[in-house]
Amino acid sequence: MVVIAADAADDPLMKQVQATFEPIPLTPPTIKGIASTPAMVNLGKALYFDPRLSQSHNISCNTCHQIGLGGVDMLPNSIGHKWQHGGRNAPTALNAVFNVAQFWDGRAADLKAQAGGPIQNPIEMGITHEHAIQMLKGIPGYSKLFEVAFAKDSDPITMANAATAIAAFEATLITPNAPFDKYLRGDQAALTPEQRNGLQLFMDKGCSSCHAGINVGGQMYAPFGVVEKPGADFLPPDDKGRFQVTHTVSDEYVSASLRSATSP
Ligand code: HEC
Ligand code: HEC
Repeated sequence: MVVIAADAADDPLMKQVQATFEPIPLTPPTIKGIASTPAMVNLGKALYFDPRLSQSHNISCNTCHQIGLGGVDMLPNSIGHKWQHGGRNAPTALNAVFNVAQFWDGRAADLKAQAGGPIQNPIEMGITHEHAIQMLKGIPGYSKLFEVAFAKDSDPITMANAATAIAAFEATLITPNAPFDKYLRGDQAALTPEQRNGLQLFMDKGCSSCHAGINVGGQMYAPFGVVEKPGADFLPPDDKGRFQVTHTVSDEYVSASLRSATSP
């Protein structure tokens, strides 16, 4: 629903912007195949913050996607199991639910498909799914949380259910009603004149041809270097981006245009 304030009705920038972006919805969206309940979100939240889901009992999802730091770790590349550096930068977990696919190369279709990955990734949490499940079964508090969240299952503590619960929690990590969202809903005064000038430039310079939609990005893939392909020293030989998923030569050094302008 778009409410146009009376004084903004003939604001051409607002009309152009409303046709290009969408405000973050006020309530969490649904993820295909997940009938989210408060009990599921509650369990997912406990798992998201629990370092016992890692081999070292030191690393949780929140280590690299800190909710209080805009959903990231503020590092060029994350530090995981045994202080190993990963090859890629951790994208924000906030509003990730709105991306067309997950990871810089889009190799996971959605948050549920994504959630199991880091737990057993040797340079992230470094624990096998079998071990993680055994460990969860040994913690009485989790038996109760899984039973309530997945009441129909006879053996509810499974990795699939853990991933479902984490995804249900992540779908609540949205940032509605930011000044830009209010502007998109028709409140011209939500942005200062200087901010509106910046927005005009963002549109005029073509940033919005890739950074558009609900997440100001995250809807498409694009090669490194928008104007000019960067030199070999910027192109890691062992990480060719989306090429690793599609094995198509034109996808070498292509990545998702993750949300930018709305990143907190
Ligand atoms: C050691 C750091 C680390 C840990 C721990 C970690 N992640 Fe990540 N996460 C990353 C990095 C780095 C990427 C990007 C990897 C890539 O693109 O290949 C990522 C990507 C993601 C994405 C994709 C976001 C997007 O916009 O594409 C989501 C969602 C996510 N992680 C959630 C989680 C969850 C849930 C957990 C816990 C189960 C977790 N992460 C644990 C570092 C980490
Ligand atoms: C051809 C598509 C394209 C255009 C046009 C484009 N970008 Fe990007 N942008 C990307 C992609 C892809 C990424 C992520 C990969 C990377 O960092 O190279 C990105 C990343 C970013 C990031 C970092 C986001 C983050 O979460 O780390 C910012 C900020 C950004 N762009 C701003 C801009 C601005 C400002 C403009 C206009 C001057 C612009 N972009 C034009 C594709 C584009």
